Amino acid sequence: MAFLSSFIIALTLKVSITGAVPTPRDAPQYSIDWQPCAENATENPASLDCGHLEVPMDWNNPDGTKIRLAVSRVKTNSTNKLGSLFFNPGGPGGPALPLCVSLAVEGDIAFNEIMKHYDIVCPDPRGVGYSTPVKCDADLWASTPSYFVNSEEEWQQVQDFNKALGESCLNLTGPMMGFVDTASAAKDLDALRAAVGDKKFNYLGFSYGTQLGARYAELFPGNIGRMVLDGGVDPSLDELDSFIQGNWAMDNELSRFFEWCDFDSTCALHGSNDSIAIWDALIARANQKPIPAPGCDANSTGQRAGECKPEVTGYELIFELENHFQSPDNWPSISEWIKEADEGNATSLSLGLGSMDYANLAIGCLDNPVESRTYEEHVALQNLGSAMFPHALGSSMQLQFATTCIGWPFNATNPPHHFNSTAGDKLAPILIVNAEHDPATGISEALGLHRQIPNSVFLTRTGDGHTSL
Ligand SMILES: *[C@@H]1O[C@H](CO)[C@@H](O)[C@H](O)[C@H]1NC(C)=O
Ligand SMILES: *[C@@H]1O[C@H](CO)[C@@H](O)[C@H](O)[C@H]1NC(C)=O
Ligand SMILES: *[C@@H]1O[C@H](CO)[C@@H](O)[C@H](O)[C@H]1NC(C)=O
Ligand SMILES: *[C@@H]1O[C@H](CO)[C@@H](O)[C@H](O)[C@H]1NC(C)=O
Ligand SMILES: *[C@@H]1O[C@H](CO)[C@@H](O)[C@H](O)[C@H]1NC(C)=O
Ligand SMILES: *[C@@H]1O[C@H](CO)[C@@H](O)[C@H](O)[C@H]1NC(C)=O
Ligand SMILES: *[C@@H]1O[C@H](CO)[C@@H](O)[C@H](O)[C@H]1NC(C)=O
Ligand SMILES: *[C@@H]1O[C@H](CO)[C@@H](O)[C@H](O)[C@H]1NC(C)=O
Repeated sequence: MAFLSSFIIALTLKVSITGAVPTPRDAPQYSIDWQPCAENATENPASLDCGHLEVPMDWNNPDGTKIRLAVSRVKTNSTNKLGSLFFNPGGPGGPALPLCVSLAVEGDIAFNEIMKHYDIVCPDPRGVGYSTPVKCDADLWASTPSYFVNSEEEWQQVQDFNKALGESCLNLTGPMMGFVDTASAAKDLDALRAAVGDKKFNYLGFSYGTQLGARYAELFPGNIGRMVLDGGVDPSLDELDSFIQGNWAMDNELSRFFEWCDFDSTCALHGSNDSIAIWDALIARANQKPIPAPGCDANSTGQRAGECKPEVTGYELIFELENHFQSPDNWPSISEWIKEADEGNATSLSLGLGSMDYANLAIGCLDNPVESRTYEEHVALQNLGSAMFPHALGSSMQLQFATTCIGWPFNATNPPHHFNSTAGDKLAPILIVNAEHDPATGISEALGLHRQIPNSVFLTRTGDGHTSL
C-alpha cells in the first residue's frame, strides 16, 4: 500500500446533494453529484470523479446536524460492470480518497484487473481526510508525554495532558467528535452504497478496514455482495486481549527481522550474529536518553522536516517501526535506519506526527473502552508488556488508546463484542486474508475474526508484512 503515503491532491468540489430521508437501507434519495476532482484538471482522467455526501452526524437523530463525507471514484469502462467496490485502507484514521486518484492517474498492478469490472469507490470515513475532519491542537499533540510512566507524578502529567488534548480536539472539532465511532462509519457506508445505486455492497478493507467491514456485515447482513477483509482485526477483544494480540504480532516480527539480519548480508546490521541485541540495547539507551532526530526539526531541509519528533524515546522508535513493517521489501532500508539511530541520528525512525493521528485517536477512543484506569493498573499493563514482549515492550496503538483515552471528552460508545449477525449462516461468504507473520494483525487475531463470522473463508499468505494485496 505504499502508493497511499506519497500522495497529495488539492480538491475543490462543487457538489449538491439531493434527498433528505436518511434511512440508508432503502434510500434512493441519497445521491452524489459527481464532479471532476477539480484542481488537478490536467491529470484528471475521464475515469475519475469526486463528490460529497451529507449524512446525519448522529444516526439516531437523522434530522439533526449533518456532516460531509468526501469520496472519490474510478469508473470502470466495462459495459457489463459488476458494481462498485468500496475501499478502506485502515488506521483508524486512514483516508481512502487518494487511492482512487492514484489508481486513475497511475494505475496499480493489484487493482488493474478489478478496475475492468468494478467502479472503485474511495470514501474518506467520517472525521478523516477530506470528510469533515477531527482536529486537535498540533503543538499539544507534538508534546505528548510517554505512555510509559515511572512515578505517580508522571502519571498525573499524562492525565493533565490527556485532558488538555481532548479539550482542544473538542474545541476545534465540535460535537462530531463523539460520533466518529466505527458503527456510525459503517452506517455511512450503507448510505454511500445507496447513493451509488448498488443493491449489494462490495468491499475491500485492510487492517482497521476489516473492523469497519465486519461492523457493516453485522449491521447490514442482507446487503453484502463480495467482501474481502485483509489483515483481520478481532472485533471481540477487550483492552488486555487486544494489547496482547497486537504486541505479540510485533514482537514476533521483530525476532524474524533480526534473524534475517543475522543471515542476510543485505541487512546493514549483518555481521554481529546477534543483531537483536543491538536493537534491545538501542531501545534501552533511547529510553534513558532520547535520541536526536535532527531531520525532524521544522527548520531542517530534510524530507521529514516538521513532520516527526525532534528527539525520540526507545518506545517511540518501536511504535514508529511498526508502520514500516508493512512489507518485507522495506527490511533493507529499515536496517539502515536502525543503524543510523544506533549511531545517534534517529530521523528516519522518529515518530511521525500528522493530522491523521487526530481521527485515529478520536475513533480509537470511541471503539476501545479503557480498562486500566489507575496508576497501578497502568503500570501492570506496562510490566506485562516488557515481561511478555522483550523486543516490542508493549509499545503499540493498543497502549496509546489505553493511555490517551483516559480523560477523553467521550467514553467508548461502540465497545468490542463478538460478531453477531441476525443472518446467521445465511451470511454471504466473506474472504479473510492474513499473512502468517503479520506484525500488526497477527494470524491468531485474524483467525479469531474468521471464527466469529459465519461462512467466512480464511486464506493464509505464507510470509511477512501487514496485509497482503
Ligand atoms: C496530479 O495528480 C498526480 C497523481 O497524484 C500527481 O502525480 C501530479 O503531480 C498532480 N499534478 C498537479 C499539477 O498537481
Ligand atoms: C479499460 O480499462 C482497463 C483497466 O482500467 C484498461 O486496461 C483498458 O485499456 C480500458 N479499455 C478501454 C477501451 O479504454
Ligand atoms: C477550549 O475552549 C474553552 C472555551 O473557549 C477555553 O476556555 C479552553 O481553554 C479551550 N481549551 C483548549 C485546550 O483549547
Ligand atoms: C557468526 O557465526 C558464524 C557461523 O556460526 C561464525 O562462523 C562467525 O565467526 C560468527 N561471527 C561473529 C562475528 O561472531
Ligand atoms: C526556525 O527558524 C525560525 C526563523 O529563522 C526561528 O525563529 C526559530 O527559532 C527556528 N526554530 C528552531 C527550532 O530552531
Ligand atoms: C540524519 O539522518 C537523516 C536521514 O538519513 C539525514 O537526512 C540527515 O542529514 C542526518 N543528519 C545529520 C545531522 O547527520
Ligand atoms: C468515562 O468513564 C469513567 C469511568 O467510568 C468516568 O470516570 C468518566 O467520567 C467518564 N467520562 C465521560 C466523559 O463520561
Ligand atoms: C445478537 O443480536 C440479536 C439481534 O440484534 C440480539 O437479540 C442478541 O441478543 C445478540 N446476541 C448476543 C450474544 O449479543
